[in-house]
Amino acid sequence: MSARLTVIGLGKLGLPLAAFYATRGATVCGVDRDERRVRAIVERATIDLDNEQGLRSAIEGLEDGRLSFTTNTAAAVGASDHVIIVVPVIARAHGAVDFTAMESACDAVASNLKPGTTVIIETTLPVGTTRKRLTPLLERSGLTLGRDLFVAFSPERVLVSRIFTDLERYPKIVGGVDASSGARAASFYEAHLKAPVWQVRNTETAEFVKLAETCYRTTSIALANELAMIADAKDIDMLEIIRGANSQPYSNILEPGIGVGGHCLPVYPFLLEESGVDAPLIERGRAINASMGEYGVRRLEAALGGLAGKTVLILGVSFRPGVQETAFSPAFDVRDALVERGARVLACDPLYSDDQLAALGFTPGKIPQPDADAVVLQTAHEQFQPFDPNDFPRAAVVLDGRNVLDRTAIESAGKRYLGIGR
Ligand SMILES: NC(=O)c1ccc[n+]([C@@H]2O[C@H](COP(=O)([O-])OP(=O)(O)OC[C@H]3O[C@@H](n4cnc5c(N)ncnc54)[C@H](O)[C@@H]3O)[C@@H](O)[C@H]2O)c1
Repeated sequence: MSARLTVIGLGKLGLPLAAFYATRGATVCGVDRDERRVRAIVERATIDLDNEQGLRSAIEGLEDGRLSFTTNTAAAVGASDHVIIVVPVIARAHGAVDFTAMESACDAVASNLKPGTTVIIETTLPVGTTRKRLTPLLERSGLTLGRDLFVAFSPERVLVSRIFTDLERYPKIVGGVDASSGARAASFYEAHLKAPVWQVRNTETAEFVKLAETCYRTTSIALANELAMIADAKDIDMLEIIRGANSQPYSNILEPGIGVGGHCLPVYPFLLEESGVDAPLIERGRAINASMGEYGVRRLEAALGGLAGKTVLILGVSFRPGVQETAFSPAFDVRDALVERGARVLACDPLYSDDQLAALGFTPGKIPQPDADAVVLQTAHEQFQPFDPNDFPRAAVVLDGRNVLDRTAIESAGKRYLGIGR
């Protein structure tokens, strides 16, 4: 008999996951507490379907009854033998971690669990959270852990926009609060994924894997950024440094840039801190990355001889090329640093309408923008290439925050080119 799965949290992750497991033979009910979200999905009125590769065709190719949606968590869970929870755990200002959505999802799950259900948390968590904070909530169901309730953690390692591909690409890491929980969760994934399933010792190990891989990336990017700032100070091109240094196998310097955004890299160092450990290197890396917007604007200010009264166009508000997501986007840092110095700031992004930009607090700009005194490339959307410096006849400086523009073309047009580390 096919697995009956409930996926809780139909966001950028949960909706594709629900559709994916339905295409792999499970009977899936997707749950979200946001009625508008559920209605938009049911009516296919959401553009999210096209932002995620393969999602629309997966949903539209399913036979009737394979995938349904509701706001009623208890009813869905009562009819399931497996539950995946993927609602956000977020860090608020100053890094305070907010478990409200996750705890309320666990409470709702516990209210109607049937014996034998396996609950798997996929949201990234501080180490120890599944066992110490969430399992007790699930045990309020009255079921006994390891006998008729099974709880596991399995980090979601995919990138939004290519979730289906990534699900098949990376090993699925799974850890249970006890041996039988781990084994049951692993067999669910083995039955539905082609990727290898790696059962690790416990939930803490599985939680730490995700934090370790993302904090590794945070710290590596921070190192690239620090080296880029040294390159700027010494008037050396960082791209040449990277090419030279990475020409032997022991060095893999990443690309520097005007900041990192998204739900993961800027946030997960706080989850590590919440785990009760001291991680000064990782925290310093997070802080360096968070300062890059300000750094870029300082360079621009120096090149222009001040920013007061200057019009600056930011190209791209998404945190990543090709993705309509602004969580922790460096675009906000760049905008705020410019405004603080008295600049008039405009922004344009092919993935956002003028109304959406305004709702995010940006004054919409455009290409061409004849009155721009400077241009900052914040997101390397492919639509910004080829970059024509003549679209900005008044601009004296172009700050290439992603080191992807054609420096020669910009300088040939009589403009000053600045990169990050070049
Ligand atoms: N977005 C990513 O790139 C990414 C990548 C890897 C892992 N993750 C993990 O996935 C988690 C979710 O990310 P997302 O991007 O899908 O978030 P999202 O903000 O796009 O969506 C979350 C959804 O959960 C719903 N929700 C919140 N509380 C709920 C509850 N108690 N019951 C039912 N529904 C509830 C919200 O209404 C929303 O629709 C993240 O916190 C992260 O740990 C995300």
